[in-house]
Amino acid sequence: MRRPIIAGNWKMHNTTGEARELVELLKPLVGATDVEVVVCPPFTAIAAAANAAAGSNIAVGAQDFFWEDQGAYTGEVSGPMLRDLGCRYVIIGHSERRQYFAETDATVNKKLMAAYRHELIPIVCVGETLGQREAGETLAVIGHQVWEGLKGLAPDQARELVVAYEPVWAIGTGKTATAADAQEVIAFIRETLGSMYGAAAEAVRIQYGGSVKPENITELMAQPDIDGALVGGASLDAVSFAAIVNYGDH
Ligand code: PGA
Repeated sequence: MRRPIIAGNWKMHNTTGEARELVELLKPLVGATDVEVVVCPPFTAIAAAANAAAGSNIAVGAQDFFWEDQGAYTGEVSGPMLRDLGCRYVIIGHSERRQYFAETDATVNKKLMAAYRHELIPIVCVGETLGQREAGETLAVIGHQVWEGLKGLAPDQARELVVAYEPVWAIGTGKTATAADAQEVIAFIRETLGSMYGAAAEAVRIQYGGSVKPENITELMAQPDIDGALVGGASLDAVSFAAIVNYGDH
């Protein structure tokens, strides 16, 4: 009943030409899937990717944005600007934004509200660090991020939400959480959303992210609460990203 959603987070990779080429390579490889396919280029390559993806089943998202619509905010990009480029999704609160750019649960929540205002589907990232996991704080940390970052929605809005559980220690490290560990935390996220939004939590799509590859996607997707993946490194290669999207084919 929840449609799987697999998104590629390109991070700070790909010029306009490279973005166009990657989307062109991807189109025939993912054309037959029922999975919702999203690519998130850097701001500068969004228009090129969106143009290349036009008419295909590949949707485009941004990796971040600012919550104000316009104004004296040097260097920032707003929701209306993303819509203008053809974006339908926006990643919010990625751990790299939290770590290097001082994002907090409070800024995540402001961006969440702005995303709904502009009809952008938010992909909100949560995740614990290695130190927090080793200290046995995983569920407390995740619970706090979910309550604070995702509060204030109407149940109808909550249904549209996409959450990405990305343990920080698994991002770009080659270490994937075991499918069972990912399922445990993701089930807890759904339970927390249930306390916040009741039955709407059953409709929320929750992705796993952190070193997702063609080799581990099938086991992850077999878990009852895992509805997709947020893919970094492996999304930069058309063949591996397509193999992840087409996880059900083998
Ligand atoms: P990774 O990144 O797949 O390269 O680990 C995932 C992410 O940060 O979204």
